Amino acid sequence: MAQTQAEHSQEPTRRDFLYIATGAVGAVGVAVSLWPFIDQMNPDASVEALAQVEVDIGGVAAGQSITVMWRGVPVFIRHRTEAEVEAARETPLDDLPDRLARNANLPEDATADDENRGVPGREEWLIQIGVCTHLGCVPLGEQGDFGGWFCPCHGSHYDMAGRIRRGPAPENLHIPEYEFLDENLVQIG
Ligand code: FES
Repeated sequence: MAQTQAEHSQEPTRRDFLYIATGAVGAVGVAVSLWPFIDQMNPDASVEALAQVEVDIGGVAAGQSITVMWRGVPVFIRHRTEAEVEAARETPLDDLPDRLARNANLPEDATADDENRGVPGREEWLIQIGVCTHLGCVPLGEQGDFGGWFCPCHGSHYDMAGRIRRGPAPENLHIPEYEFLDENLVQIG
């Protein structure tokens, strides 16, 4: 499909700034609501809290997503359905514009197969940084031509493994360091 001129643009437009500004207001809201908790900690504990976040994912049903803030950026946590995992696994590597996993838990040259976008045995969970790899907007979930995430700033489409499939974004959504502490608790960072 032919891309529009806007999709090729490298310069943020006025619409981008409005979109980024909207995201910034949301981030301030989160920061304010967290303050009473952080304020009760000593300085060392608050620094540690910013470096690592523990998230209870027990209430996130298949087909649902939540967003948490970590080190000042949104992190998308998606509980994928079996159909979503299957579709992601059927996608050939040759169809991917970016063939690297971009997964901080794996070597830098790990390929972008769906298996490398999560952790073994917990493939239903997709945990990724919610920042478009083009110019940094926050993509929207369950949208776009591949059913994953869509960045409205310049039209980047990501699939159900968070891999860029169409549009100007050069890389797959990045996956932060994380580990499952138990069945329902995941530590990011
Ligand atoms: S910031 Fe340009 S497509 Fe996402």
